[in-house]
Amino acid sequence: MTAADVPALLRETVGEGALITDPAGMGSYLTDWRNAWSGAAAAVVRPGSTEEVAAVVRACRTAGVAVVPQGGNTGLCGGSMPDSSGRQVVLSLDRMRRIRGVDPVDLTITAEAGVVLRSVQQAAAAEGCLFPLSLGSEASCTIGGNLATNAGGTGVLRYGNMRDLTLGLEVVLPDGRIWNGLRALRKDNTGYDLKQLFVGAEGTLGVITAAVLKLFPAVRSRATAWVALPSPQAAVDLIGVVRALCGDRLTGFEVMSRQSVDFVLRHQAGARDLFADVHPWYALVELSDTLPDAGLDGLLEAGLAEAFEREVAADAVVASGSAQVAALWALREGISEAQNFEGPSLKHDVTVPVSSIPAFVERTDRALQAALPGIRIVTYGHIGDGNLHYNLSKPAGSDDAAFRAMAGELARVVYDSTSSFDGSISAEHGLGQSKRDVIADYKDGLELELMRGIKRLLDPPGLMNPGKVLPSA
Ligand code: FAD
Ligand code: MLT
Ligand code: ZN
Repeated sequence: MTAADVPALLRETVGEGALITDPAGMGSYLTDWRNAWSGAAAAVVRPGSTEEVAAVVRACRTAGVAVVPQGGNTGLCGGSMPDSSGRQVVLSLDRMRRIRGVDPVDLTITAEAGVVLRSVQQAAAAEGCLFPLSLGSEASCTIGGNLATNAGGTGVLRYGNMRDLTLGLEVVLPDGRIWNGLRALRKDNTGYDLKQLFVGAEGTLGVITAAVLKLFPAVRSRATAWVALPSPQAAVDLIGVVRALCGDRLTGFEVMSRQSVDFVLRHQAGARDLFADVHPWYALVELSDTLPDAGLDGLLEAGLAEAFEREVAADAVVASGSAQVAALWALREGISEAQNFEGPSLKHDVTVPVSSIPAFVERTDRALQAALPGIRIVTYGHIGDGNLHYNLSKPAGSDDAAFRAMAGELARVVYDSTSSFDGSISAEHGLGQSKRDVIADYKDGLELELMRGIKRLLDPPGLMNPGKVLPSA
């Protein structure tokens, strides 16, 4: 079968209405929002039901055509992009947007894979519940993509990542069979936990079509502070101070270097600095509670008072009112976008044990400055989970192409340092295309062998999102 025969095959399978083949129509499916990744495809197919997904996967398998599942296309590792051959099919879940049910007694929501994360949050809120996954891309990313990447974000500290939030899945396997694992049970010890194979598999083991997810009681009060810090050690100490005082009410703890905040102040309309002095680090601390009047402002102020006393915090503002809370979160969530205005952003999404963060930052910054003097290091992230985004921008005024050419060398610097602290080179974004080869140097050989075995078992011809996750042979 040639690429030219693929549209006819899919037309026969799901009809003309579910198919895009013209270059203009396929455009937004073949490049990501940063223009960091692009590809070509024989067709984009948009099935409207699980049965249609299964029919597409079966037809492609019979024809020997590779399938690339795609959700909101916000992934940061090129996982949802086809290769450049023009022979692969992009299977978009963007017509599978039904919330099949919300159950406030079982505290579950059942949603199709193409439902946008924010719609799930809103559907939960309408029933007095909380779906706690929260990412900067939540207005565009989908539940299927969140599951396939085991997404993290800003609520992991309290509620866990997507793996922790998943009770059941419906999956179309690479041979076209439908696995209905949409169970809503909190306990089920009947052997291997198969759903967890598909969470974080980045579409290499099948197409997720729906999920049962955990809900929590709605949050009715919040307190949010922006804190200036003298060092990464102070950030780690501040987590300790607030957690000791507030326990599980600590639901967000994000940290940003001054360089990260500078980019937002420069590029985000309306962004403004909170303090007269410039500080090397900042933290965004959020407490929340299910009680409407939980006295959280007082609790947060008590924590900050202790932090000042111990010289952990240099300055702080507790937000008054929802507009200021939103402004603080915009300063944090705007970093990723603001960095795009400064030339290529080389992304490294790493975790180390929280206690190692200060030494890790010190060693990594030093090694990066030695590798490329003047490099702008945009370090920020979910420090409460030990997760830093060690993103890099070129030295001011230097050449984009020369910086891009150093991407591999600079990644090595960050990953070698991460590895020396027993960390992981992908905390929450996955491996996709960008880290599929480099992972071979940082992951145990036996683990990779087991992963390859699972891939062979489920997808012997290797047609489900090839070229992603697993290192090339
Ligand atoms: P896509 O990008 O479409 O796909 C991602 C991967 O999942 C691909 O490998 C794709 O093949 C696969 N896939 C998609 N749908 C399915 C399906 N139904 N079945 C099987 N495989 C599928 N990520 C975080 O974890 N934490 C963050 O804090 C965070 N912040 C971000 C902020 C910004 C501004 C941006 C742009 C991205 C951020 N991300 C973050 C990354 C990204 O949003 C997440 O990885 C998200 O989960 C991807 O969802 P998506 O629907 O866009 O998936
Ligand atoms: C974030 O937390 O803002 C993203 O995961 C990081 C990124 O865009 O690099
Ligand atoms: Zn993140």
